[in-house]
Amino acid sequence: SVCLSVCLCLCLCLCLCLYGPLYALYLGPHYTVVVNTYQHAREVLLQRGKEFAGRPKMLTTELLTRGGKDIAFSDYSPLWKTHRRLVHNSFTLFGEGTTKLQSIVLEAVEALCCDLQASRGQAIDPDPPLMRAVTNVVCTLVFSSTYQHGDPELTTVMEYNDGIVQTIARGGLVDIFPWLRFLPNQTLTTLTECIAIRDQLLSKKLEEHKVSLIGGEPRDLLDALLQGQTRIKHNQGSGVRGQGLGVEQEEEGISDDHVLMTAAEVFGAGVETTSTTLLWVLAFLLHHPQVQERVQKELDEVVGCGRSPDVSDRTHLPYLDSVINEVMRIRPVSPILIPHTALTHSSIGGHSICKGSRVLVNMWAIHHDPEHWDQPEDFRPERFLDDKGLRFTPSCFMPFGAGPRVCVGESLARLELFLFVSGLLQRFSFSPAPGVSLPDLEGRLGVVLQPLRYTLTVTPRPGWEGVKGEREGEGVWWKE
Ligand code: HEM
Repeated sequence: SVCLSVCLCLCLCLCLCLYGPLYALYLGPHYTVVVNTYQHAREVLLQRGKEFAGRPKMLTTELLTRGGKDIAFSDYSPLWKTHRRLVHNSFTLFGEGTTKLQSIVLEAVEALCCDLQASRGQAIDPDPPLMRAVTNVVCTLVFSSTYQHGDPELTTVMEYNDGIVQTIARGGLVDIFPWLRFLPNQTLTTLTECIAIRDQLLSKKLEEHKVSLIGGEPRDLLDALLQGQTRIKHNQGSGVRGQGLGVEQEEEGISDDHVLMTAAEVFGAGVETTSTTLLWVLAFLLHHPQVQERVQKELDEVVGCGRSPDVSDRTHLPYLDSVINEVMRIRPVSPILIPHTALTHSSIGGHSICKGSRVLVNMWAIHHDPEHWDQPEDFRPERFLDDKGLRFTPSCFMPFGAGPRVCVGESLARLELFLFVSGLLQRFSFSPAPGVSLPDLEGRLGVVLQPLRYTLTVTPRPGWEGVKGEREGEGVWWKE
């Protein structure tokens, strides 16, 4: 591995070309271009979005997605477009315009509050309860299962998901030098084992759904995908062209593998990103207690303590929204997005880019560029408000990417972030655990940019100390 590192460094040093804010390096068999400015990111993601909408083939992601049967790692193609549209429409069924998704998230917020309340002023690590809550949202959304704390199936889901995330984060060299897979490789072995457990559980859910599927309103995402799949098959059978499918792919359509990989991807793409953003929010609030107080004041004025905040409150809570935005700016969980590839010969900033080059959009640099952000290292939620205190979103703020490959789960993620942050700050104040230093704000880059583990104490706010709640099958969960 020392030899490999030396080779890698030599490759990097020899092949690094610097074009002002654009870097190109020759890594393995491909050119990789790193885009560091908003102007160039606009070209890649929006102006020439389609030309740069490819994804590189990597060994780990091919394993993970049965050769690109998902959305995120599948190459740009007519079939991919149909698949993405189907997933987008399925999310819309539960998200925008319905209260179904909101009810799912609010139930998870309620359960999370119980977990936090149970700490009774002791220092706790917020990572496990947040991860449980966000995983539960996805389990309910995807296959209608909601688990109690400690349920073995929930533990299985969390364990394999974590295993996949950890091994993908460590799998980097195999993706650059694929021949490494012929050497003993514990990371690849663990990844394969986690994928097998994942597929067993999701296949079981898929078969159960096929048996119990009835027409009409879908119960969850699996139902919606199965119904969409049937519709596309039906169209093909009747000789009607599936929406934009090419001739060679028309035969294939959306297979069971596509449905399964989509369900798997909602866990992969939706859990770690959302729970990590929530961990960053709490970490920054511990560092900035005055920001926490201001959010709580806004919540008290708009919502009070007689009911839970819901999406209809969002327009009236601009400061809370600005805190979430500022956290996503200063610590984007996906700091280089997902790698893109050039599908054709193209250019960025006037420099020609050859077909097949990988393009990494450095969102970290864009979100910290002093040309666009005043004192970018400072945590200042007000930068997302105008002088009247209304929402203001600079165009160079792109935590979910932009263009044809923009995050499919953006509205779900935004809804979750809003409901979790508002629900938690309505009821609790968060402070550093006594005698323990404040969380480290540098973070560590794995699959996402995560804060290092930290602890905090949770104190019920005035009016919430003696509140009782009930959860089905658990009786009273909170009693003073
Ligand atoms: C705070 C939460 C989230 C953040 C910050 C986030 C961010 C991102 C980013 C930066 C990308 C890559 C865009 C690009 O490559 O240009 C992406 C892609 C994606 N995200 Fe998210 N995401 C979040 C939550 C979710 C959720 C909840 C889901 C699903 C339920 C999801 C599903 C996806 C999928 C499927 C893609 C691939 C899109 C494609 O390649 O066409 N994400 N996300």
